Amino acid sequence: MEFNELLYKRRSVRAFTEREVTRGEIDTLLEAATRAPNACNMQSWHFYVVTDGEVRAKFADICATWATTAPVIFVVCTDNEALVGRFGERAKLFTYQDTALAAENLLLAAADMGLNGCFMGAFDAGRCRALLNIPEKHEIVALIPVGEAQTESPLRERKPMSDVVTYIGEAASTVSEARDDRYVLRDTIIKHARFENINMTGVEFDNIKMADGSFNNINMSGVSFSDINMTGAKFGGMCMNKTSFGCVDMREARFDNPDLRGTEFRNCNFSDVKLDGCELSGMTIDGINVAEALEFYRKNK
Ligand SMILES: Cc1cc2nc3c(=O)[nH]c(=O)nc-3n(C[C@H](O)[C@H](O)[C@H](O)COP(=O)(O)O)c2cc1C
Repeated sequence: MEFNELLYKRRSVRAFTEREVTRGEIDTLLEAATRAPNACNMQSWHFYVVTDGEVRAKFADICATWATTAPVIFVVCTDNEALVGRFGERAKLFTYQDTALAAENLLLAAADMGLNGCFMGAFDAGRCRALLNIPEKHEIVALIPVGEAQTESPLRERKPMSDVVTYIGEAASTVSEARDDRYVLRDTIIKHARFENINMTGVEFDNIKMADGSFNNINMSGVSFSDINMTGAKFGGMCMNKTSFGCVDMREARFDNPDLRGTEFRNCNFSDVKLDGCELSGMTIDGINVAEALEFYRKNK
Protein backbone atom coordinates (compact mmCIF):
# COMPACT_ATOMS: atom_id res chain seq x y z
CA MET A 1 0.00 0.00 0.00
CA GLU A 2 1.23 3.45 -0.84
CA PHE A 3 2.38 5.30 2.30
CA ASN A 4 -0.03 8.22 2.11
CA GLU A 5 -2.90 5.80 1.62
CA LEU A 6 -1.72 3.84 4.67
CA LEU A 7 -1.62 7.00 6.80
CA TYR A 8 -5.31 7.52 6.14
CA LYS A 9 -6.16 3.85 6.48
CA ARG A 10 -5.03 3.85 10.10
CA ARG A 11 -7.86 4.87 12.35
CA SER A 12 -8.55 4.16 15.99
CA VAL A 13 -10.93 1.23 15.96
CA ARG A 14 -13.00 0.20 18.97
CA ALA A 15 -15.16 -2.65 17.64
CA PHE A 16 -13.77 -5.80 16.09
CA THR A 17 -15.01 -8.74 14.06
CA GLU A 18 -14.39 -12.32 15.16
CA ARG A 19 -11.50 -12.70 12.72
CA GLU A 20 -8.46 -14.15 14.48
CA VAL A 21 -5.05 -12.52 14.23
CA THR A 22 -2.53 -15.24 13.46
CA ARG A 23 0.81 -15.77 15.16
CA GLY A 24 2.50 -14.85 11.88
CA GLU A 25 0.59 -11.55 11.77
CA ILE A 26 1.45 -10.84 15.40
CA ASP A 27 5.12 -11.44 14.65
CA THR A 28 4.91 -9.05 11.68
CA LEU A 29 3.35 -6.38 13.91
CA LEU A 30 6.08 -6.82 16.53
CA GLU A 31 8.74 -6.71 13.85
CA ALA A 32 7.32 -3.39 12.66
CA ALA A 33 7.12 -2.07 16.24
CA THR A 34 10.74 -2.89 16.97
CA ARG A 35 11.93 -1.24 13.73
CA ALA A 36 11.04 2.11 15.32
CA PRO A 37 13.76 4.63 16.05
CA ASN A 38 14.78 4.38 19.69
CA ALA A 39 17.27 6.02 22.03
CA CYS A 40 20.81 4.69 21.52
CA ASN A 41 19.30 1.62 19.90
CA MET A 42 18.92 0.22 23.40
CA GLN A 43 15.36 -0.81 22.51
CA SER A 44 14.01 0.03 25.91
CA TRP A 45 10.67 -1.64 25.38
CA HIS A 46 8.89 -4.86 26.18
CA PHE A 47 5.63 -6.15 24.70
CA TYR A 48 3.20 -8.51 26.40
CA VAL A 49 0.97 -10.13 23.80
CA VAL A 50 -2.35 -11.30 25.16
CA THR A 51 -4.32 -13.70 22.98
CA ASP A 52 -5.71 -16.03 25.64
CA GLY A 53 -9.50 -15.53 25.64
CA GLU A 54 -9.94 -15.86 29.42
CA VAL A 55 -7.14 -13.42 30.14
CA ARG A 56 -8.43 -10.96 27.54
CA ALA A 57 -11.89 -11.09 29.14
CA LYS A 58 -10.32 -9.93 32.42
CA PHE A 59 -9.24 -6.69 30.72
CA ALA A 60 -12.84 -5.59 31.31
CA ASP A 61 -11.64 -4.71 34.84
CA ILE A 62 -8.60 -2.88 33.48
CA CYS A 63 -9.83 -0.72 30.60
CA ALA A 64 -12.87 -0.02 28.40
CA THR A 65 -14.71 -3.31 27.81
CA TRP A 66 -14.72 -3.02 24.00
CA ALA A 67 -10.97 -3.77 24.13
CA THR A 68 -11.72 -7.33 25.26
CA THR A 69 -13.36 -8.07 21.90
CA ALA A 70 -10.04 -7.64 20.09
CA PRO A 71 -8.38 -10.99 19.33
CA VAL A 72 -5.06 -9.67 20.56
CA ILE A 73 -4.10 -7.00 23.08
CA PHE A 74 -0.54 -5.69 23.07
CA VAL A 75 0.61 -4.35 26.42
CA VAL A 76 3.40 -1.93 25.61
CA CYS A 77 5.93 -1.37 28.38
CA THR A 78 9.23 0.40 28.85
CA ASP A 79 12.28 -1.52 29.96
CA ASN A 80 14.37 1.40 31.13
CA GLU A 81 17.08 -0.05 33.39
CA ALA A 82 19.93 0.08 30.86
CA LEU A 83 19.10 3.53 29.50
CA VAL A 84 18.47 5.13 32.90
CA GLY A 85 21.63 3.42 34.18
CA ARG A 86 23.60 5.17 31.49
CA PHE A 87 21.92 8.58 31.27
CA GLY A 88 20.06 9.03 34.55
CA GLU A 89 16.41 9.81 35.28
CA ARG A 90 15.91 12.02 32.22
CA ALA A 91 16.32 8.93 30.05
CA LYS A 92 12.91 7.71 31.27
CA LEU A 93 11.45 10.22 28.85
CA PHE A 94 13.39 8.56 26.03
CA THR A 95 11.86 5.20 26.89
CA TYR A 96 8.32 6.65 26.65
CA GLN A 97 9.27 8.17 23.32
CA ASP A 98 10.64 4.79 22.18
CA THR A 99 7.42 2.99 23.04
CA ALA A 100 5.23 5.65 21.42
CA LEU A 101 7.16 5.35 18.17
CA ALA A 102 6.97 1.55 18.35
CA ALA A 103 3.23 1.77 18.94
CA GLU A 104 2.70 3.93 15.86
CA ASN A 105 4.76 1.52 13.75
CA LEU A 106 2.62 -1.34 15.03
CA LEU A 107 -0.61 0.51 14.25
CA LEU A 108 0.54 1.42 10.74
CA ALA A 109 1.64 -2.16 10.09
CA ALA A 110 -1.77 -3.36 11.30
CA ALA A 111 -3.53 -0.98 8.89
CA ASP A 112 -1.29 -2.24 6.10
CA MET A 113 -2.47 -5.79 6.87
CA GLY A 114 -6.17 -4.90 6.82
CA LEU A 115 -6.31 -4.76 10.62
CA ASN A 116 -6.66 -1.81 12.95
CA GLY A 117 -6.38 -1.03 16.62
CA CYS A 118 -6.37 1.69 19.19
CA PHE A 119 -3.65 3.22 21.32
CA MET A 120 -5.11 3.25 24.85
CA GLY A 121 -3.65 5.39 27.58
CA ALA A 122 -6.60 5.03 29.97
CA PHE A 123 -6.27 1.79 31.92
CA ASP A 124 -5.57 0.58 35.44
CA ALA A 125 -1.85 -0.14 35.36
CA GLY A 126 -1.82 -1.81 38.79
CA ARG A 127 -4.51 -4.31 37.82
CA CYS A 128 -2.84 -4.96 34.47
CA ARG A 129 0.49 -5.59 36.20
CA ALA A 130 -1.14 -7.97 38.66
CA LEU A 131 -3.09 -9.86 35.98
CA LEU A 132 -0.08 -10.45 33.73
CA ASN A 133 2.46 -10.66 36.52
CA ILE A 134 4.50 -7.85 34.97
CA PRO A 135 7.71 -7.09 36.89
CA GLU A 136 8.33 -3.57 38.28
CA LYS A 137 11.13 -2.95 35.79
CA HIS A 138 8.54 -2.84 32.99
CA GLU A 139 6.46 0.34 33.19
CA ILE A 140 3.18 -0.10 31.32
CA VAL A 141 2.71 2.73 28.81
CA ALA A 142 -0.19 1.68 26.62
CA LEU A 143 -2.59 -1.06 25.66
CA ILE A 144 -3.14 -1.68 21.96
CA PRO A 145 -6.05 -3.97 21.13
CA VAL A 146 -5.79 -5.05 17.47
CA GLY A 147 -8.19 -6.87 15.17
CA GLU A 148 -10.29 -6.48 12.09
CA ALA A 149 -12.54 -3.43 12.26
CA GLN A 150 -16.25 -4.23 12.42
CA THR A 151 -17.08 -1.11 10.43
CA GLU A 152 -14.85 1.48 8.83
CA SER A 153 -14.27 4.23 11.39
CA PRO A 154 -14.67 7.78 10.13
CA LEU A 155 -11.47 9.65 9.47
CA ARG A 156 -11.09 12.02 12.41
CA GLU A 157 -10.49 15.64 11.57
CA ARG A 158 -7.25 17.32 12.50
CA LYS A 159 -6.76 20.97 13.39
CA PRO A 160 -5.69 23.18 10.52
CA MET A 161 -1.93 23.32 10.07
CA SER A 162 -1.97 27.02 10.96
CA ASP A 163 -3.08 26.08 14.50
CA VAL A 164 -0.33 23.55 15.10
CA VAL A 165 2.64 24.64 13.01
CA THR A 166 4.96 27.62 13.37
CA TYR A 167 7.26 28.15 10.43
CA ILE A 168 10.64 29.63 11.12
CA GLY A 169 12.03 30.59 7.77
CA GLU A 170 10.62 30.15 4.28
CA ALA A 171 9.99 26.70 2.79
CA ALA A 172 10.10 26.22 -0.95
CA SER A 173 6.62 26.41 -2.46
CA THR A 174 5.15 23.17 -3.81
CA VAL A 175 3.45 25.18 -6.55
CA SER A 176 5.85 26.37 -9.15
CA GLU A 177 5.29 28.10 -12.43
CA ALA A 178 6.51 25.72 -15.10
CA ARG A 179 5.63 27.74 -18.18
CA ASP A 180 3.75 30.92 -18.76
CA ASP A 181 0.46 29.06 -19.23
CA ARG A 182 1.10 25.96 -17.06
CA TYR A 183 1.17 25.47 -13.31
CA VAL A 184 2.50 22.38 -11.54
CA LEU A 185 1.28 21.05 -8.19
CA ARG A 186 3.60 18.32 -6.98
CA ASP A 187 4.19 15.94 -4.00
CA THR A 188 1.37 17.24 -1.86
CA ILE A 189 -1.40 15.88 0.29
CA ILE A 190 -4.64 17.80 -0.22
CA LYS A 191 -6.84 16.48 2.53
CA HIS A 192 -10.61 16.52 2.00
CA ALA A 193 -10.08 18.85 -0.93
CA ARG A 194 -13.20 20.73 -2.02
CA PHE A 195 -12.79 22.36 -5.40
CA GLU A 196 -15.70 24.43 -6.69
CA ASN A 197 -16.18 26.70 -9.69
CA ILE A 198 -12.54 26.69 -10.69
CA ASN A 199 -10.84 27.08 -14.01
CA MET A 200 -7.86 24.72 -13.92
CA THR A 201 -6.99 24.90 -17.57
CA GLY A 202 -3.50 23.54 -18.16
CA VAL A 203 -2.63 22.72 -14.51
CA GLU A 204 -0.33 19.70 -14.01
CA PHE A 205 -0.84 17.51 -10.91
CA ASP A 206 1.98 15.13 -10.03
CA ASN A 207 2.16 12.75 -7.02
CA ILE A 208 -0.78 14.21 -5.15
CA LYS A 209 -3.02 12.52 -2.63
CA MET A 210 -6.57 13.78 -2.99
CA ALA A 211 -8.52 10.89 -1.50
CA ASP A 212 -12.12 11.82 -0.67
CA GLY A 213 -11.79 15.12 -2.55
CA SER A 214 -14.83 16.67 -4.13
CA PHE A 215 -14.78 18.57 -7.41
CA ASN A 216 -17.74 20.60 -8.65
CA ASN A 217 -18.14 22.77 -11.72
CA ILE A 218 -14.50 22.65 -12.66
CA ASN A 219 -13.00 23.32 -16.04
CA MET A 220 -10.09 20.91 -16.35
CA SER A 221 -9.39 21.26 -20.04
CA GLY A 222 -5.80 20.22 -20.70
CA VAL A 223 -5.10 19.31 -17.04
CA SER A 224 -2.62 16.46 -16.57
CA PHE A 225 -2.68 14.09 -13.58
CA SER A 226 0.10 11.61 -12.79
CA ASP A 227 0.70 9.39 -9.71
CA ILE A 228 -2.45 10.64 -8.02
CA ASN A 229 -4.50 8.94 -5.34
CA MET A 230 -8.10 10.03 -5.82
CA THR A 231 -9.75 7.15 -3.98
CA GLY A 232 -13.31 8.06 -3.15
CA ALA A 233 -13.15 11.44 -4.91
CA LYS A 234 -16.43 12.84 -6.24
CA PHE A 235 -16.66 14.78 -9.46
CA GLY A 236 -19.71 16.71 -10.59
CA GLY A 237 -20.40 18.93 -13.58
CA MET A 238 -16.88 18.89 -14.94
CA CYS A 239 -15.43 19.71 -18.28
CA MET A 240 -12.39 17.49 -18.78
CA ASN A 241 -11.65 17.92 -22.46
CA LYS A 242 -8.19 16.59 -23.31
CA THR A 243 -7.36 15.93 -19.64
CA SER A 244 -4.71 13.20 -19.32
CA PHE A 245 -4.47 10.71 -16.46
CA GLY A 246 -1.42 8.50 -15.74
CA CYS A 247 -1.00 6.08 -12.78
CA VAL A 248 -4.11 7.41 -11.09
CA ASP A 249 -5.93 5.42 -8.40
CA MET A 250 -9.62 6.33 -8.68
CA ARG A 251 -11.17 3.43 -6.84
CA GLU A 252 -14.70 4.38 -5.76
CA ALA A 253 -14.43 7.73 -7.51
CA ARG A 254 -17.75 8.95 -8.82
CA PHE A 255 -18.28 11.12 -11.88
CA ASP A 256 -21.63 12.81 -12.57
CA ASN A 257 -22.16 14.30 -16.01
CA PRO A 258 -18.52 14.91 -16.87
CA ASP A 259 -17.58 15.88 -20.38
CA LEU A 260 -14.57 13.64 -21.08
CA ARG A 261 -14.18 14.16 -24.81
CA GLY A 262 -10.59 13.58 -25.91
CA THR A 263 -9.43 12.58 -22.38
CA GLU A 264 -6.62 10.01 -22.24
CA PHE A 265 -6.24 7.44 -19.42
CA ARG A 266 -3.01 5.42 -19.06
CA ASN A 267 -1.93 2.84 -16.42
CA CYS A 268 -4.99 3.58 -14.30
CA ASN A 269 -6.74 1.27 -11.90
CA PHE A 270 -10.38 1.10 -12.96
CA SER A 271 -11.40 -1.98 -10.98
CA ASP A 272 -15.12 -1.97 -10.14
CA VAL A 273 -15.74 1.10 -12.31
CA LYS A 274 -19.33 1.27 -13.56
CA LEU A 275 -20.36 3.18 -16.68
CA ASP A 276 -24.08 3.67 -17.25
CA GLY A 277 -25.77 5.60 -20.02
CA CYS A 278 -22.50 6.98 -21.38
CA GLU A 279 -21.78 8.13 -24.91
CA LEU A 280 -18.87 5.92 -25.99
CA SER A 281 -18.52 6.60 -29.70
CA GLY A 282 -14.87 6.83 -30.75
CA MET A 283 -13.66 5.57 -27.31
CA THR A 284 -10.91 2.95 -27.49
CA ILE A 285 -9.41 0.73 -24.82
CA ASP A 286 -6.00 -0.73 -25.74
CA GLY A 287 -6.82 0.06 -29.39
CA ILE A 288 -10.23 -1.66 -29.37
CA ASN A 289 -13.23 0.46 -30.27
CA VAL A 290 -15.49 0.05 -27.25
CA ALA A 291 -18.82 0.86 -28.94
CA GLU A 292 -18.05 -1.63 -31.75
CA ALA A 293 -16.93 -4.31 -29.30
CA LEU A 294 -20.11 -3.88 -27.24
CA GLU A 295 -22.23 -4.05 -30.38
CA PHE A 296 -20.43 -7.26 -31.45
CA TYR A 297 -20.91 -8.73 -27.97
CA ARG A 298 -24.62 -7.90 -27.89
CA LYS A 299 -25.18 -9.48 -31.30
CA ASN A 300 -23.23 -12.66 -30.59
CA LYS A 301 -23.85 -13.40 -26.93
C1 LIG B 1 -1.63 9.05 24.24
C2 LIG B 1 -2.92 8.52 23.70
C3 LIG B 1 -3.87 8.01 24.58
C4 LIG B 1 -5.07 7.50 24.07
N1 LIG B 1 -5.92 6.89 24.94
C5 LIG B 1 -7.07 6.36 24.47
C6 LIG B 1 -7.93 5.65 25.36
O1 LIG B 1 -7.65 5.47 26.53
N2 LIG B 1 -9.09 5.16 24.86
C7 LIG B 1 -9.42 5.30 23.54
O2 LIG B 1 -10.49 4.83 23.15
N3 LIG B 1 -8.60 5.95 22.66
C8 LIG B 1 -7.43 6.47 23.09
N4 LIG B 1 -6.56 7.08 22.23
C9 LIG B 1 -6.90 7.18 20.79
C10 LIG B 1 -7.32 8.60 20.42
O3 LIG B 1 -8.60 8.86 20.94
C11 LIG B 1 -7.31 8.74 18.88
O4 LIG B 1 -6.01 8.49 18.39
C12 LIG B 1 -7.74 10.14 18.44
O5 LIG B 1 -9.08 10.37 18.76
C13 LIG B 1 -7.57 10.35 16.94
O6 LIG B 1 -8.31 9.40 16.20
P1 LIG B 1 -7.59 8.45 15.14
O7 LIG B 1 -6.57 7.63 15.89
O8 LIG B 1 -8.68 7.59 14.56
O9 LIG B 1 -6.96 9.30 14.11
C14 LIG B 1 -5.35 7.56 22.68
C15 LIG B 1 -4.39 8.06 21.83
C16 LIG B 1 -3.18 8.51 22.31
C17 LIG B 1 -2.12 8.98 21.34
